[in-house]
Amino acid sequence: MTQLTLERLYHPDGKHLGGLVAGLSGSGKTTAVISTLQQAMKNKKFGEFHRFIVIDPKTQYGDYDKLSEPISDMKKALKSIRKKRMTVYFPDLDYLEQEVSLIVDYLFSLADAEPKSSFTLILDEASILITPTKIPPALKRLSVQGRAKKIKPIFISQRPIVNRWTDANLSTLLLFNTLPVDYDTLSKRWGVDFHKIGENVREKEYSYIWFDMEKGTSKLMNPVELPKVRRRVKKKDFKGKITQFFRLS
Ligand SMILES: Nc1ncnc2c1ncn2[C@@H]1O[C@H](COP(=O)(O)OP(=O)(O)O)[C@@H](O)[C@H]1O
Ligand SMILES: [Mg+2]
Repeated sequence: MTQLTLERLYHPDGKHLGGLVAGLSGSGKTTAVISTLQQAMKNKKFGEFHRFIVIDPKTQYGDYDKLSEPISDMKKALKSIRKKRMTVYFPDLDYLEQEVSLIVDYLFSLADAEPKSSFTLILDEASILITPTKIPPALKRLSVQGRAKKIKPIFISQRPIVNRWTDANLSTLLLFNTLPVDYDTLSKRWGVDFHKIGENVREKEYSYIWFDMEKGTSKLMNPVELPKVRRRVKKKDFKGKITQFFRLS
């Protein structure tokens, strides 16, 4: 068993594509993402020009608020993205597609304004917006052009293969406990016996498979450490240096 490489997963290096975190409800996806993001936030290698953005359609307290105080006002969210290391956005479900699209387009405009900047955008419950036959234009753009702009998407979904656009533009799959039918699809798609690997995942709760979609290799991973509860500090959630370089408003 190996440790997760945070940079490989979250850092947009211009080479690797985004990630997909898949598994049944309760299999440990959100917990794993929060726990690894807590480490990534502190990791200096991401640099002061890096921003993490989490969009949680569940608007669930007790989850991503461990990373940063959730924001449900769009204007405040965009300001937070410019100024803070981590932004957690709780969208309005009635306007989910519009709001996600707005944030994605905003990241592209920030990336154009400041070439040093880079972004990790995590979208939980991505299957609400991305189905096998449908994907919002902004997410298609993110999947196809994100790498060049150093915007890395991480989609979290209950089913592994969501859409041909994202499927062709992701390089990491973190596969938690899932349905046998999904192992079939994955085995056919990648030529790897996922049933065999899947047995190991079922043996240990919250363990998962790290599948490298570029190399076709997989590793069985131990459950992540449970995330830490965030201290309720009003300011200075992140003590490191953050450069406020964006001039857009
Ligand atoms: N690595 C872990 N270690 C211990 N408990 C875990 C772990 N991952 C998940 N859990 C437990 O399972 C619950 C559901 O996990 P969660 O990450 O919300 O699943 P998902 O996002 O896949 O629906 C968590 O609230 C926690 O109690
Ligand atoms: Mg979840």
